[in-house]
Amino acid sequence: MGAILAVVSQKGGVGKTTTAINLASALARGGRKTLLVDVDPQGAVRHGVGLMGTEQPAGLSDVLAGTHELQDVVLGTPLPWLRVLLAGSVSDDVEHSTYSRQVAESPKLGELFDRARARGYLVIVDTPPGLGAVTRRVLAHSQHVIVPLQCEPLALQTTTQILRAVRQAAATNPALVLDGILLTMLEAGNAVSERVAAYVREQLPPELLLDVAIPRTMSSIDAFAAGQPVVLHSPNDPAALAYLRLAELLEPRLR
Ligand SMILES: Nc1ncnc2c1ncn2[C@@H]1O[C@H](COP(=O)(O)OP(=O)(O)OP(=O)(O)O)[C@@H](O)[C@H]1O
Ligand SMILES: [Mg+2]
Repeated sequence: MGAILAVVSQKGGVGKTTTAINLASALARGGRKTLLVDVDPQGAVRHGVGLMGTEQPAGLSDVLAGTHELQDVVLGTPLPWLRVLLAGSVSDDVEHSTYSRQVAESPKLGELFDRARARGYLVIVDTPPGLGAVTRRVLAHSQHVIVPLQCEPLALQTTTQILRAVRQAAATNPALVLDGILLTMLEAGNAVSERVAAYVREQLPPELLLDVAIPRTMSSIDAFAAGQPVVLHSPNDPAALAYLRLAELLEPRLR
């Protein structure tokens, strides 16, 4: 049996997509059968895994709309154990409210996750920022959740809201476990960034914080621009090593 792990945060731009792509790639590289699913209608996963052809590939939104079958839209990647389900044609629309309603109301998302799990997939889900209907629906069907927290001033401000949302989701989905908060974009040598990381470590109970922090590196930016996860693009880069360590840490829990 596989498992569903959601990457969520109240704030935008904190490294959710980067984390989902690299964690999924690191786990697949280690031989875990992994499915990366983009439920964010912005569809950024497509850029990060190098599927930027001219045509928008069909994906999750097309399965939910009933125009495509799941098996026809799950795509292979250069990693044999990693497959991806992109956001789909919703990414071309300016208006995403129909999609959000579909996700929130249709039983299909849960069914899709259940099918993937039954086939032994570890499903890593990249979500839109905030705690809207899409993210809450994903949490209702997940067993694991991690919350990236960018090392910047006021980082902790939104953490209470997200922790409350996870607790609320767990009240109706007792299988849901918060694996932890993940410090991202930590800048070594930058006093502000280091002070924020120290403050977060001081303020949060240790069991809430994952025992690895992702540094901010140039290679992470280069990798995204090149359409590759940094763990494959520059495996010795400190951010890549941190994501590999995160995968090692989480792997035994994701059963
Ligand atoms: N470790 C890192 N080092 C350098 N840049 C990074 C790192 N992690 C993420 N970034 C960059 O920060 C930006 C935001 O990251 P990302 O897209 O992963 O965040 P997000 O939380 O998914 O954003 P959104 O809320 O818009 O979906 C991107 O340009 C990404 O390339
Ligand atoms: Mg994103």
